[in-house]
Amino acid sequence: MKISQTINTLRDVITQWKKEGQCIGLVPTMGNLHAGHIELVNQAKAQCDKVVVSIFVNPLQFNEARDFNAYPKTRDADQQKLIAAKADLLFLPDSEIMYPQGQQLSTIISVPKISEELEGEHRPGHFDGVATVVNKLFNLVQPQRAFFGEKDFQQLLLIRKMVQDLNMPIDIESVATCREADGLAMSSRNSRLTVEQRRIAPELYSVLQKLARQLEYNEKSIQQLESEAMQTLKQQGFEPEYVSVRASSDLQAVTQQTLDKVVLAAARLGDVRLIDNLSSHKL
Ligand code: PAJ
Repeated sequence: MKISQTINTLRDVITQWKKEGQCIGLVPTMGNLHAGHIELVNQAKAQCDKVVVSIFVNPLQFNEARDFNAYPKTRDADQQKLIAAKADLLFLPDSEIMYPQGQQLSTIISVPKISEELEGEHRPGHFDGVATVVNKLFNLVQPQRAFFGEKDFQQLLLIRKMVQDLNMPIDIESVATCREADGLAMSSRNSRLTVEQRRIAPELYSVLQKLARQLEYNEKSIQQLESEAMQTLKQQGFEPEYVSVRASSDLQAVTQQTLDKVVLAAARLGDVRLIDNLSSHKL
């Protein structure tokens, strides 16, 4: 596996691959890789000739300095996992490479509406940071395909919209959420949970499953189901931020016409913020 820490060395490899007519797949990550990330790499390997994985803990998308500083960094282990998964190139830029004039002076990509709701409401500026860094990575790597997890459902829709709005010739491929045996969605932040918090954490997914099943019965209003789910999470020891049923196509409020729905939630366990979602057609 090649490793590139600068834009010039990355561009040299990409130029060569483009000349050879190779199909390039990109898996953007922030590192501390787990089986969910590796599944993205596996899917990229299956669909592309060359797979580039980026690891960059993007300061622009963190709205809390504490969260940014606590983000786990495990470079050697990540590198070993990517070699085992047969990634072709690891792009490892630092902040000076990605934002040479500092974050304040960087051009920002802002995707309207979808970036203001749910995660956007609770993490102001987060999605501008995501859209900006992913746009830069797309320009640097020029992939034909890029792979994103359904775990970050709103992020996936945001990237799809950005690509459509800006006419980027890139296919966005989604990958189902990888879970631990007890249902907890794999996340780099899980390693920060205490033993007691880790015991409670799978309840987030259980609450989503219960809500999604009840949606099918149609006995209670969506609002009632959402507030009952928030109550259950509180009783279990979470500090829930939202539980919301939305249209899976654009995350707008559900109407009579909405066919596919998704239930999304964010909740804190102490210092750790967990998110998860479940599409109603997946039940
Ligand atoms: P990160 O949280 O490292 O996630 C990288 C990719 O892995 C994202 O597409 C995410 O949805 C996917 N992923 C995370 N957990 C997963 C799981 N349990 N199952 C399947 N896929 C999973 O998301 C980001 O980084 C950043 O916002 C990024 C897109 C890299 C921009 O900085």
